[in-house]
Amino acid sequence: MVKSFKTFLKHTAKDFHNQSVNPPVVRASTIIFKSMREIRKMQNKAIKNPKGGYFDYARTGTSTTYILQKILTKLEESYHVFTTQTGFGSVFLAIFSVVRPGDEILVADPVYNPTRVLTENYLKEFNIKTIFYDPHNLKTLQKNITPKTKLIFVENPGSNTFDFQDLNKIISIAKKNKVYTAIDNTWGTPYYLKPIKLGFDMSIVSATKYYSGHSDVMGGSLAVNKKVFPKVKFAEKITGQRLGPDDAYLITRGLRTLDVRLDRHNNNAKKVAAFLSKNKKIQLLYPYKKNSQNFRMWKKYYSGASGLMGLKIKAQNVISVRKFVNSLKLFGYGYSWGGFESLVLHQENKEIGKRKYMNLAKDEHLVRLHIGLEDSSDLIADIKQALKHLS
Ligand SMILES: Cc1ncc(COP(=O)(O)O)c(C=O)c1O
Repeated sequence: MVKSFKTFLKHTAKDFHNQSVNPPVVRASTIIFKSMREIRKMQNKAIKNPKGGYFDYARTGTSTTYILQKILTKLEESYHVFTTQTGFGSVFLAIFSVVRPGDEILVADPVYNPTRVLTENYLKEFNIKTIFYDPHNLKTLQKNITPKTKLIFVENPGSNTFDFQDLNKIISIAKKNKVYTAIDNTWGTPYYLKPIKLGFDMSIVSATKYYSGHSDVMGGSLAVNKKVFPKVKFAEKITGQRLGPDDAYLITRGLRTLDVRLDRHNNNAKKVAAFLSKNKKIQLLYPYKKNSQNFRMWKKYYSGASGLMGLKIKAQNVISVRKFVNSLKLFGYGYSWGGFESLVLHQENKEIGKRKYMNLAKDEHLVRLHIGLEDSSDLIADIKQALKHLS
């Protein structure tokens, strides 16, 4: 009966037992049973149902995390979704589920910098080699595949430069070479892009961002297909991944309004982009200008765009860029994004990381804006007054 995901989100997770419209927060370490026989019965059920729902010890979660996993599995249209304490925990889980010493992995050059450090530096200590590929030239992906390649790790769009890639091409290269694929889909969320349906083996979302939507919780989700499920299940169990019930509850609560919030972020960002696109000093890093490769790649795969965008600003000196940023009144200075509020960051090397394929001239500077849920005309007026400082 319920066809639309928008309707499903409003009607799911009711607690008919307690007659409450929301599920209870079940906090537990120990689960108690009436007898040893009951424990064994539950354990047998858990073995027969590896996707969860049967608990003998709460390291594998409680009904509160299980409800969230079920909702996310439906949203992702995946085989299963695992949850972790942070989004980065899901990045870690995806990689360590399939990659082993001696393997090589291919990673999109513009990945989130901590992902870059994890793959380039930390994996090296396990004798795992990372090669970065150019998101706009997939020949650099194809030509670096060797018999040792185990995983292609994509982030779409790339952090800070917002590069959109040809996802079908990446999947087909991976399938041809029998290589696993993972994508960080935090920007679009499965509301706008469904990577598992597209053919990815694993899809990561930082639930800290749009899923929770209120800047008060951290979490991560890792959606998987059937093929990779047993490997991730084993790694999840053995590395002790567990999202707490209070955080799981807050993310479930945030999800009720995911569609409403994302649609508003999308509309507000479009209006801000329309305003910024008229400024000759600014190149928008957002799928707005129809003639760009990034726009074509976005249009091919996504049903909408979120509120996070980049600005490549041409300015003789960095001081005027800082003045512009520091003059914004409605944009908070702070990390993260995906909450209700607008945020700004001047991107320096420590955020961007050591990239191999980035053309940023000396007089070009990157600024990241998260367009929140405020009235877009207030945001545009604020940006307008701050831009007076840009020279
Ligand atoms: C694209 C992307 N992926 C993953 C993460 C990590 O998420 P978390 O901060 O929840 O660990 C972030 C955080 O900013 C991010 O921007």
